[in-house]
Amino acid sequence: MNATQELLKEKLQQALVTAFGAEFAGVDPVLVAASNPKFGDYQANVALSLAKRLGQQPRAIAQAIVDQLDVSDICKPPEVAGPGFINLKLTTEYLEAQLAALQADSRLGVAKAKTPKREIVDFSSPNIAKEMHVGHLRSTIIGDSIARILEFRGHDVLRLNHVGDWGTQFGMLITYLREVYPEALTTANALDIGDLVTFYKQAKKRFDEDEAFQEQARQEVVRLQAGAADTIHAWKLLCEQSRTEFQVIYDLLDIKVQERGESFYNPFLPKVVEDLEQTGLLVEDQGAKCVFLEGFTNKEGEPLPLIVQKSDGGYNYATTDLAAIRYRIQEDHAKRIIYVTDAGQANHFAQVFQVAYKAGWVPDDVELVHVPFGLVLGEDGKKFKTRSGDTVRLRDLLDEAIARARADLENRLIQEGRQETEQFKANVAKVVGISAVKYADLSQNRTSNYVFSYDKMLSLKGNTAPYMLYAYVRTQGISREGNVDFEKLGTDAKILLQEDTELTLAKHLLQLDEIISDVEQDLLPNRLCEYLYQLSDKFNKFYENCPVLKSEEPIRTSRLALCYLTARTLKLGLSLLGIQVLERM
Ligand code: ARG
Repeated sequence: MNATQELLKEKLQQALVTAFGAEFAGVDPVLVAASNPKFGDYQANVALSLAKRLGQQPRAIAQAIVDQLDVSDICKPPEVAGPGFINLKLTTEYLEAQLAALQADSRLGVAKAKTPKREIVDFSSPNIAKEMHVGHLRSTIIGDSIARILEFRGHDVLRLNHVGDWGTQFGMLITYLREVYPEALTTANALDIGDLVTFYKQAKKRFDEDEAFQEQARQEVVRLQAGAADTIHAWKLLCEQSRTEFQVIYDLLDIKVQERGESFYNPFLPKVVEDLEQTGLLVEDQGAKCVFLEGFTNKEGEPLPLIVQKSDGGYNYATTDLAAIRYRIQEDHAKRIIYVTDAGQANHFAQVFQVAYKAGWVPDDVELVHVPFGLVLGEDGKKFKTRSGDTVRLRDLLDEAIARARADLENRLIQEGRQETEQFKANVAKVVGISAVKYADLSQNRTSNYVFSYDKMLSLKGNTAPYMLYAYVRTQGISREGNVDFEKLGTDAKILLQEDTELTLAKHLLQLDEIISDVEQDLLPNRLCEYLYQLSDKFNKFYENCPVLKSEEPIRTSRLALCYLTARTLKLGLSLLGIQVLERM
């Protein structure tokens, strides 16, 4: 709900009390934004529900409220419509005054959170020595956008990369490392062992073929857990190599995330099990220590256990997440912990959260939220793969997007007879390519699967990054063409609303605040995308209908100010999606 809506709601409540008495003070006037402009900007639907209680006709009730309603400073005279709705239409003066406030505000009306909180966004989180795949890409893009939005609202956000850097696979990897790069175990320097994914596959092959190798790998796991110096050295080497590879992706995507991998929580694992034992939740089942869950059953309908310590004494993914919850609450003082992973992990988180709650580790003022997302599909509707059926390397995927953006640009330059420098072309291609990938992901409701299509995401038409970037470029084009420095125009240039398209655009500009608060709550960045798409569309309609540079003063300045405000809103909104704007493209 925005400030205008709150104000109207308050006034409606007052009118209700004046008309029918104090016992109606708590009644919600049910004020919603009107879906059809014909009904005004807002519609209150309260009369119908009061008909029985008051024993009157709804239209008469609505009229009685309207008679007591003083909204002349905000609205045109309210109208009773249909069976008993109250239609409210904002006055042009009110909208203009609101816009003036927006112009003067560097945050464009988006208030800072009244009570800033420490929030953790656990995102990206690939696994060492394994491919960072499209699922991690989604987590990275969505998690980053959520973090940006929370940061902008003034929250104290900790961006955590819960990297999979521990586990029995390291036994195999280190054994193989000893075989092929014996010097790696002794040199102090980092060593380039080439493509880690290939290395992983080769190690796996050795492991599957050779029993002696398997035994060695098991020994290596024991040595790793015991902290043997040379094994730890090898482990660090593998992590370092992966880290460098991941960083290439993060740099390309302009993403900041702090690494705090699974291994970080190793020292806290025994205490997790110990404390679960204390609370009496722990049950021993065939040598494994586990907690029985409510609401989770196996095929036979028997309750399902969450294993926290295996019969061989080892801990697992869930134990680490339990330790992480405790650390994040106790040491990081997090009030909301947001986990961005594919929907396939929904059960894992539901189980881990349940155990944490039952054990009493989650205070009332702390929220644990799993933010699930769907699969990335190829255009054939099947799991996203390369032509040869391999998993797509993220690096290749991003490079391809940039290359295609470059080809589109070169074509456009030829058509338009333009010459541009290499630097310009490289920059536009990179921004457009990367933005297209990010936006395609963010603009879908994250809970559904999405079809990865370079053609669609790079199209200049539709709900795409290039369309949005182009709307911004258009605003900048106006400033260049008219030789108007938007910044010099100032934030107090008066906006006058005359045409319908201007009013529509103005109302939309005033809604940013509401959208951002919604996303802060429901963590659905696609709502911000939809807002920006509508904004671009409304701006384009305004631009088609209202001459800007050719208008007489004071309309010329007013329209320029409207362009500038649109540009600022687009730039801010896109930046919260992790998308950079271009002055020209
Ligand atoms: N490394 C995991 C994976 O690749 C994701 C980790 C998500 N975060 C967490 N706290 N479990 O599936």
